[in-house]
Amino acid sequence: MIISSISYKGGVGKSTLAQNLAVALALDNHKVCIIDADEAAATTRWFAIRQEAQAEPFVNVVQMTEAKAIIPSVKALYKDYDAIIIDGPPSLFPIVSKIMLLSHIILIPIVPKGGSDYWVTEDFLVRYNEVQEEKEERTPAYFLLNMYKESFNLHKAVVAGLTNLGEQYGVHFLKSKLHERVAYGESNVKGVSVMEYTDPRAQKEIRSLMQEIVEIAQKS
Ligand SMILES: Nc1ncnc2c1ncn2[C@@H]1O[C@H](COP(=O)(O)OP(=O)(O)OP(=O)(O)O)[C@@H](O)[C@H]1O
Ligand SMILES: [Mg+2]
Repeated sequence: MIISSISYKGGVGKSTLAQNLAVALALDNHKVCIIDADEAAATTRWFAIRQEAQAEPFVNVVQMTEAKAIIPSVKALYKDYDAIIIDGPPSLFPIVSKIMLLSHIILIPIVPKGGSDYWVTEDFLVRYNEVQEEKEERTPAYFLLNMYKESFNLHKAVVAGLTNLGEQYGVHFLKSKLHERVAYGESNVKGVSVMEYTDPRAQKEIRSLMQEIVEIAQKS
């Protein structure tokens, strides 16, 4: 499966999702490679720390930021892996359309804080729709709630708006969600995932997310 973690918006957890999902899949005996498609190279740097720390399980990271090359390069690499996870840039640059074309499942992390989450997501979904018109089969896309706080009424209001918006494009929220937890940031700077860190609640939500995605992949 080729899974992308993409959004027009910065700082919503694209890289955090890619890294944690990759390690969870590797722990579930998949051979995993992350494509770092962001020139800011956050996941490439995480990988360098991870290699230095000799963290297990092994998850490969390859940087690819050329829109023209990414489709053939990922297809060639996919022969050697069970799962490829693409960590996208916070943009709607042409490379994002290529990533949409390549993906079997698109994950869109959402931090539901206000109107801009809605407007940016709408622009993203318009692009998603345009790309789907080039394809024979629609690529399933899902919103993933990130940095969620149950007590935050604003989150609920933004989620209600995004639920309606998503429905117009056939995009729904995953059942799994990720809460705001210090373990995500702390594990990241050590080159590991929450699966290799100390917060069992974070591990549980990443494991549930991984299982939900594997089930989606098996159905599609
Ligand atoms: N669930 C979470 N709880 C707490 N902190 C989080 C969570 N998810 C992400 N973060 C933190 O939020 C920041 C942004 O996350 P991340 O770098 O994954 O976002 P991004 O969408 O990849 O950003 P960019 O657009 O810059 O590539 C990081 O410091 C990360 O550690
Ligand atoms: Mg990133």
